[in-house]
Amino acid sequence: MEEIIIRGGRRLEGKLRLQGSKNSSLPILAACVLADGVSVLHNCPVLTDVAAAVRILEHLGCTVTREGHTLTVDSRGVSCYTVPEDMMHEMRSSIVFLGAMLGRLGKAELCTPGGCEIGLRPIDLHLSSLRALGAQIEEQNACLHCVCREKLKGTVISLSFPSVGATENIMLAAVLAEGSTTILNAAREPEIDDLAAFLCACGAKVQICSGGAIRIEGVKKLHGAEHTVISDRIAALTYMAAAAACGGDVVLEQVQTAHFLSVNRVFEQAGCRVTATPGEVRIQSQGRLSAVRDIRTLPYPGFPTDAQAAVMAMLCTAKGTSVMVETIFENRFHHVHELNRMGARIRIEGRVAIIDGVASLTGTAVTAVDLRAGGALAVAGLAAKGETVLRGVHHIDRGYENIEACLRALCADMERSAVRGNRQQKFQPPVRQCGG
Ligand code: UD1
Repeated sequence: MEEIIIRGGRRLEGKLRLQGSKNSSLPILAACVLADGVSVLHNCPVLTDVAAAVRILEHLGCTVTREGHTLTVDSRGVSCYTVPEDMMHEMRSSIVFLGAMLGRLGKAELCTPGGCEIGLRPIDLHLSSLRALGAQIEEQNACLHCVCREKLKGTVISLSFPSVGATENIMLAAVLAEGSTTILNAAREPEIDDLAAFLCACGAKVQICSGGAIRIEGVKKLHGAEHTVISDRIAALTYMAAAAACGGDVVLEQVQTAHFLSVNRVFEQAGCRVTATPGEVRIQSQGRLSAVRDIRTLPYPGFPTDAQAAVMAMLCTAKGTSVMVETIFENRFHHVHELNRMGARIRIEGRVAIIDGVASLTGTAVTAVDLRAGGALAVAGLAAKGETVLRGVHHIDRGYENIEACLRALCADMERSAVRGNRQQKFQPPVRQCGG
C-alpha cells in the first residue's frame, strides 16, 4: 500500500505536458475489438484503468503491446465472448466492451460492473439501446447473457439522458450493424468525438451531427487504424485547480483548450487569469481567490462532474461563499468529509454543496475513496499548511498518470512512499473501485 506525502503551501510554477485522456482511451480500446486487424494508439496514458482494459482485450484474444504511451492492439485473434467477473469489477467502464463484443462476435457474457460509491450508476440505457438494435439480453444474478440471433439492425434510439457510456456502447454495436442507426440526445463529450474519429479511421461511417444526434451507417468489416488519443481535460482541470489554489503560473502543454472553455469562466470568476493558445493553456493566480456562487455540473459542454471535486477543493480557501450543485451523480461528495477534516467549511444539502471559504487548510492524513476525490485531496494538500498524507492512492492511479511527478514538475513538494507506521485515522471509508 502506498501513500502520497504532500508538504503544502508552495506556489506552483512551470510547464507540464498533459497526459492522454483516460475516458477516451477506454472506449477506443474496446473499439479495437471491432477492428479485425492491428491498431496503433498513441498518447495512451499509463493508468490502472487502461491496464484493466488491456487485460480484458488479452482475455478476449487480442495481443497488446505497449511502448511508452503507444499501445498496439492486434485483434485478429478475438474469439472469446466472456469477461470474467473480477475483470468486469475492476472498472465500471468495462461495460463498453459489451457493445464491441456484440458487434464483432454477436454474443457476450459478462457481469454488470456493479454499484459505485458515487451513486447507483445503472446501465438501463445501455441495455435498452442494445435491445433496440436487436440484441437479446437476459439478466441473471447480476450477469448478462447477450446474443444476437441475427445481425444487429440499425434503428433510431432516443436517449432519455445523454449518457456517455450508453452513447459509446450504441456506437460500438452499431458500426457493424445492418443499416443505419441514429442516436438522438447522444452525449456530446469530446471523448465521443474521439471515439468516432477512431472508428472512422477503422472504416466505420459515423457522423456527429448538430443538436446531439449521431448517425451511423453500418459497414461489413472494420480494419485496424492508427490514432492519437486526445488530451485529458479532467487532469488539466485538476492541475489548473491546484495552480489556482496555491497561487502560481502554470502552462499545460498538449491540451485541446476548446474542451474546457466552460470551466475557464469559473477560474476567471475566482480571480485567475487563463490564457488559451493553440495546444496550451496558461493559468496565473495571485493572492486569495474569490468565491464562485453558482457552479452546476452538467453534460458537456457544461461544467464536468469529474472536475467538481478538484474545483471544490480550490474554493475551500476562496474569500466568501461558493455554491456547487451536482446534477449528474446523486452521491458524489465523498471528498467533503476529508476536506472538512483539513479545516474546510463545507455543508451538503442534498445535491448542493455550500463552501464557506476559510483562510487556510491544514494538512492531515486523508483518504481518497474515489478517483476524483483523490484529485481534490491532492489539490487541498498542496494548498494546505503543513503535511498531508494522502491514502487511497490506488484510486488516483486509475486516472492520473504519476500525479506526484507531474506536480513536482510544477515545483510541488510531494512524494509517494510505502504506507508509514500506524498513523491513526479517524475516518476509514470503504475502499471500492468505481468509475469516474
Ligand atoms: C462517464 C465518465 C465519467 C463521467 C461521466 C459523466 C468514462 C469512462 N467515464 O461515465 O468519468 O463522470 O461519464 O460525465 O467515460 N445513467 C443511467 N442509466 C444508464 C447510464 C447512465 O441512469 O444506463 C445515469 C448515471 O447513473 C449517471 C448519469 O446517467 O447519473 C451519467 O452517467 P454516464 O454519462 O453514463 O456516465 P458514465 O458513462 O458511467
